[in-house]
Amino acid sequence: LPGDLSNLSVSDSFGTKEFPQAIIIGVKKGGTRALLEFLRVHPTNLMPRTLEGQITMEKTPSYFVTREAPGRIFTMNRNTKLIVVVRDPVTRAVSDYTQTLSKNPGLPSFQNLVFKNYSTGLIDTSWSAVRIGIYSKHLENWLRYFPLSSLLFVSGERLVTDPAREMERVQDFLGLKRLVTNKHFYFNQTKGFPCLKKPEGSSRPRCLGKSKGRAHPHISPDVLYKLRDFYRPFNLKFYQMTGQDFGWE
Ligand code: A3P
Repeated sequence: LPGDLSNLSVSDSFGTKEFPQAIIIGVKKGGTRALLEFLRVHPTNLMPRTLEGQITMEKTPSYFVTREAPGRIFTMNRNTKLIVVVRDPVTRAVSDYTQTLSKNPGLPSFQNLVFKNYSTGLIDTSWSAVRIGIYSKHLENWLRYFPLSSLLFVSGERLVTDPAREMERVQDFLGLKRLVTNKHFYFNQTKGFPCLKKPEGSSRPRCLGKSKGRAHPHISPDVLYKLRDFYRPFNLKFYQMTGQDFGWE
């Protein structure tokens, strides 16, 4: 393996540019933006300039499902802390589809894309909206390089229902003081999601943008049941691998 580059950094009067010590590696539509925004509230979390005692972070949700990513990140810095926000793969797939649909209104229906063969109920695993949610398969790739203790799995559901508790886990994992707490959040009835009371660089409360937390199109329950059946064994495997039950039944 090439040398450990973890100590390489570029310095100037505004601090140093460092390789990230922690990366939000996934998953797309899991709640990655919310997590990053909530972490920005923390005074010792910064990106991309880092002063001593601060930590550098980045978010690239496609890493978790990219075959080459674990090896490359390991080579860059084998001590990188990896955060994965996971969400019920069925809801995640619908959320992913909703995003694509918003950019391309002529998209075929969800049910058209999700099945290879509707009558046999065969799921099309080559469709990225499906593939991304097979978390156990992707995790196997990471565990070839990193110990489980290098990874933190954040529940996308709990990030919505109890953001302070989930942020407590994240801050502990990153070795940060628990400074982002209950008092930073309020539930915005109009948005239907938790929002920040005083985000960084602003004195006003702020929710995430329109593209975060948007309505999903109606999808036939029958289609969703079939997709849920498809994911069940992978979900159970994922619970086993992580030692965490995410409750996606
Ligand atoms: P939906 O828009 O489908 O509801 P990502 O940032 O990884 O793309 O994830 C987007 C998802 O984050 C949204 O999907 C939403 O459910 C979720 N989310 C979690 N916390 C949120 C918050 N506080 N405000 C808005 N969306 C939030």
